[in-house]
Amino acid sequence: MTRQRSASFTVYLETYGCQMNVYDSQSIQGLLIEAGYRLVDDDQQADVILLNTCSVREHAEHRVLSRVGELRSRRRSADLKQPLIGICGCMAERLQEALQQLNQRIDLVVGVDQYDRLPGLLQSLLAADAKPNAVLVGHRPDVHLVAPPELYPINNSHLVTIHKGCDYCCTYCIVPYTRGPQAEKDPEAILAEIRQITAGGGQEVTLLGQNVTAYHWAGELDFAALLERVTAETDIQRVRFLTGHPRDMHPALMDKIGVLDKVCPWLHLPIQSGSDRILRRMKRLYTRQEYLDMVQYARQVIPGVTFSSDFIVGFPGETPADFEDTLEILRQVKYDQIFSFKYSERPGVPAARLADDVLVPEKKRRLAALMALQEEIWNHEAANLVGSTWTGIVEGPARRPENGWRLRTANNRKLVVEGGDLTVGMQAAVRITGWRNTTFMGELLA
Ligand code: 5AD
Ligand code: SF4
Repeated sequence: MTRQRSASFTVYLETYGCQMNVYDSQSIQGLLIEAGYRLVDDDQQADVILLNTCSVREHAEHRVLSRVGELRSRRRSADLKQPLIGICGCMAERLQEALQQLNQRIDLVVGVDQYDRLPGLLQSLLAADAKPNAVLVGHRPDVHLVAPPELYPINNSHLVTIHKGCDYCCTYCIVPYTRGPQAEKDPEAILAEIRQITAGGGQEVTLLGQNVTAYHWAGELDFAALLERVTAETDIQRVRFLTGHPRDMHPALMDKIGVLDKVCPWLHLPIQSGSDRILRRMKRLYTRQEYLDMVQYARQVIPGVTFSSDFIVGFPGETPADFEDTLEILRQVKYDQIFSFKYSERPGVPAARLADDVLVPEKKRRLAALMALQEEIWNHEAANLVGSTWTGIVEGPARRPENGWRLRTANNRKLVVEGGDLTVGMQAAVRITGWRNTTFMGELLA
């Protein structure tokens, strides 16, 4: 089989889930292009359809399975191409061979650490001269993906995964099973990747990992030291990171973030619950007071810092009093943004041994109450910000108004301005005039 042969095949790739998956998809695209495949935007034009999937909640998996059904039903009409359908990512790793038994319309299953073998597998399957085992799974801690920067969408932010997997054991979480133990990318490789990004004109990176704050290389370089090297040894202008674990957000790390000008003052620090009893059952390894102390310290040492967080409502055994403790966290921290989820039992994780005893209507009620309180608190905070002047970086044209631009501040606030002779990547001073949800409206200052 030659490259020329694969050059005639087209691939459509759809991504579900977190930023790690977005980065992985960029890497998959790079590998496929290198092997001679052509990527297409239309699934109906594709010889191969790949879904890069997420297992974090049951709903995410259901969406993918129904999407497979939808894609397959099209296969029946004679005038359309008959594509191979592949499942990549966390669902592939969680379900492995069982995925093909569960849904016999799936042709290949490729886990998170097997993408380097994907082009070869596709070649064998497309050639149809052999029936290879179409399930590639299993963790390979030494294999790290690198996304080629030229594939990135046109805006000014580039993702760089700094490690994969997770060594924590939050009792609800499937990630340690799907992505395996924590394995670091070599800091030299991270620096090289960022230098390639700046060489191509990139200004901003988001350092990615399940637990970036736990980064450690050879026992000597921790996350604070990595931030220092990234800012000192590359030309990158702004550095963000996702996701930090509150337990690893030590004062020394916050001090470092506070003094490194290029590191953005925005902390996404999922608390999950405000109840110590539930935090213990989740094995989150911090108390609500420790979390609140950390927020207070960050506000002292990181000028302009903003916070966002994830929440799970209806964890097994969560009482109305536990939930009230969670609401109280919103009142105390005053987050810019929260991401909240109903607890979803994942097979095989420790929490699956606990009775999922908060009924669905009650989970829905708590979710709605959490979101309503956040909205109320945020509207109050946002009103106080009207009239402020902020510097934003232009990210691209806005959907509305038609001649508008989208900008983002260093502390991750989204702005929209009308008109103006702007270009992507440019800095602009904006006076805030209003807001809708988490986006501010403003006018450009000359
Ligand atoms: N059920 C509901 N939400 C979950 N998350 C992780 N596992 C589960 C689960 N089993 C949420 C957490 C995490 C975010 C990425 O997804 O809030 O921070
Ligand atoms: Fe899951 Fe906890 Fe790891 Fe986050 S830190 S991925 S919640 S196990």
